[in-house]
Amino acid sequence: MSVILTDHDNHVLQITINRPEKKNALTLAMYKELALALDHAEQNDSVHVILLQGQPAVFSSGNDIHDFLNRSTDELLQAIAPLLRAISTAKKPIIAAVTGSAIGIGATMLLHCDLVYCSENATLGFPFVKLGLCPEAASSYLLPSFIGYQKAAELLFFGEPFSAEKAFELGLVTALCPEADTMTIARQKADSLALLPTKALQATKSLLKNRLTPLVQDALRAENESFSTLLQSAEAKEALRAFLEKRPANFSRL
Ligand code: COA
Repeated sequence: MSVILTDHDNHVLQITINRPEKKNALTLAMYKELALALDHAEQNDSVHVILLQGQPAVFSSGNDIHDFLNRSTDELLQAIAPLLRAISTAKKPIIAAVTGSAIGIGATMLLHCDLVYCSENATLGFPFVKLGLCPEAASSYLLPSFIGYQKAAELLFFGEPFSAEKAFELGLVTALCPEADTMTIARQKADSLALLPTKALQATKSLLKNRLTPLVQDALRAENESFSTLLQSAEAKEALRAFLEKRPANFSRL
């Protein structure tokens, strides 16, 4: 079974992240497949709306931590870049259905989605600092723009997981949904959006996003520089190994 599933129906391209045994952690190959799916949606006139979803228990636990430790920084950043380009410049509306956890890039991807339907008991988190890393996917720019500097700083500095309810209060998600109905509700929204006039919809998205887009691209470049330095640091290696070894990180002996 593929780790990225796509289904094109009723003018909606549904993309499902499908690696539940590793909590939908994203590998290099998965980034490539996600980017290809988004590019396909952009180029195919019969796709009006993109629906991105995970599994009932998890949307995505972020970048695969084995890859952080075992792949070269260049290899990683080059693999992630096409997805970030595709999701940050998509002309067609992207709806996310968030169930379970959305952590790391699983959460920062949502900042690029137009509508986010989130299960009431979902959890989001930006654990970059705790992992010895820094924000990515332009979250260093988008998060303070959306929720204000101090609230963004708290979420990014401490990196603690936070509830769907808090995400909704902050304005990071469109609506909270009963857990069992989240994917159905998001699909219904996608189907309804796909029936609306496509040119008007895309013009509206473009008008909403066009002042953000150049700043998002600047943020992506700046984040890449810091991220690639930090990924090679002793702090990051300790934090990432600690996660895989299921123990607390110990920064004091570094
Ligand atoms: N990369 C690699 N493997 C991951 C992973 C990731 N991002 N997230 C989870 N996994 C793996 C675990 O190592 C575990 O593997 P194992 O069965 O071989 O031991 C398996 O997926 C199940 O994860 P586990 O942590 O036991 O599940 P949980 O239900 O207790 O917790 C999460 C789920 C999503 C809350 C937790 O896995 C988590 O916080 N992951 C986030 C990791 C992270 O910090 N990502 C951000 C990277 S920037």
